Amino acid sequence: MGDIQKKTYHVTTFGCQMNEHDSEILAGMLEENGYVKGKDRKNSDVVILNTCSVRENADKRFFGTLGQLKKTKEARPEYTVCVCGCMMQQQHIIDTIKQKYPWVDIIFGTHNMHEFPKLLESVMSERKKITDVWGEAGDIVEGLPAKRLYKHKSFVNIMYGCNNFCTYCIVPYTRGRERSRAPEDIIAEVRDLVADGVREITLLGQNVNSYKGRSRSAENEKIWDFADLIYALNEIEDLERIRFMTSHPKDLSDKLIQAYADCDKLCNYIHLPVQSGSSRILREMNRKYTKEHYLELIGKIKKVAPDITISTDIIVGFPGETEEDFEETLDLVKKVEYDSAFTFLYSIRKGTPAASYENQIPEDIKHERFNRLVELINSISAVKNKAYEGRVEKVLVEGESKTNKKTLTGRTEGFKPVNFEGSKDLIGRTVKVRITEGKTFSLFGEVITDGPKTE
Ligand code: SAH
Ligand code: SF4
Ligand code: F3S
Repeated sequence: MGDIQKKTYHVTTFGCQMNEHDSEILAGMLEENGYVKGKDRKNSDVVILNTCSVRENADKRFFGTLGQLKKTKEARPEYTVCVCGCMMQQQHIIDTIKQKYPWVDIIFGTHNMHEFPKLLESVMSERKKITDVWGEAGDIVEGLPAKRLYKHKSFVNIMYGCNNFCTYCIVPYTRGRERSRAPEDIIAEVRDLVADGVREITLLGQNVNSYKGRSRSAENEKIWDFADLIYALNEIEDLERIRFMTSHPKDLSDKLIQAYADCDKLCNYIHLPVQSGSSRILREMNRKYTKEHYLELIGKIKKVAPDITISTDIIVGFPGETEEDFEETLDLVKKVEYDSAFTFLYSIRKGTPAASYENQIPEDIKHERFNRLVELINSISAVKNKAYEGRVEKVLVEGESKTNKKTLTGRTEGFKPVNFEGSKDLIGRTVKVRITEGKTFSLFGEVITDGPKTE
């Protein structure tokens, strides 16, 4: 006992929260099988690259990282290289890997992630290469372990896949159709997490507003919608914060908006991707709402929750976007006054409808618009954050700041990052922080009390 060196693993995540949560599950399964986390990619026994295909950049970063592993694999043939995630759901990617990186040991996809331990076991015992990617999703697999990145907050999948087929987006092809978990399974998972110290959960789905959970109980046969789920989770004792990602404007219900008033644990924050402010472009994108409808939704939300913070995703340079269309986006940004926004240059994704549109926007115009948009968003963020100076915010302390060990970092209920000085034993607790400085991307402050933890 004890003298057998445990095998080590390393997982790299390239994508969204869902991808990150999949990495936590992969790590959880490995630890259940006796592996321990390794120091870095090079010095571990098993490495997993969990890929994302949403933009060309993500693809490129993956191939760059994969290329770097070749030397280690040559020096140590038992070094086991596994690649998975959204990129692997595309045949052209699998073909490229087999051709240019034939030394990769395991290729698997998003739908058979739960089978990874089995695949790894056969590679280890027989030293063969395996490609196993399912074209379609099987039944939802419950009860997989997860090695959480944070002790006090956790992701919880409530549904998988996407049915929306926005014309620019690869996700419906890599994640399959929408499947919702049973509400009882979600509630049980959240209860277990809370018992394990989790205070904040983020419910995950590509479009949580179309959640349709079939109850397992015979006497309660109704289908739960997303708001029903929030109301139920709000009853869980010792859970402090509920967040969710991502919410599609076309399915955002009045019932969910009302939940902001009724559910004290639902954070006063919404990420509501708009993608464009031009109704014409929104139609081309197949988003199924107009600029006016989106603004109406924002009006309703602000009425129910006046203090809410709002963030969004915006794509610049979608095929056919004119200067006028782009100005509609700037106008919308000014009207909504986002607290923050993720901005993306439109990226051609093979196999999506927009990839074959002929009126692609030249790179220089895309960049020029992108810069103007970012400048506007930042100037609004700066003003909004400045207004926090002097306010007292409840902050769930997440850990030490990456850049300064003396500083702790956490988030307000409105998802704004806050840095402040304090002792490490505040990590995982909710503290009150007086904001002393509001910068463009974060707040700075000082702790005014140590508690209360849950009360
Ligand atoms: N399901 C979520 C988004 C998932 S992808 C939703 O509908 O809101 C995250 C973001 O990536 C999208 O909101 C979009 O802004 C961006 N994105 C997706 N495909 C893209 C592409 N081809 N080029 C540029 N940005 C893209
Ligand atoms: Fe992609 Fe649209 Fe689905 Fe979001 S809703 S994942 S942007 S297809
Ligand atoms: Fe997420 Fe990227 Fe896949 S954004 S769903 S990991 S394509």
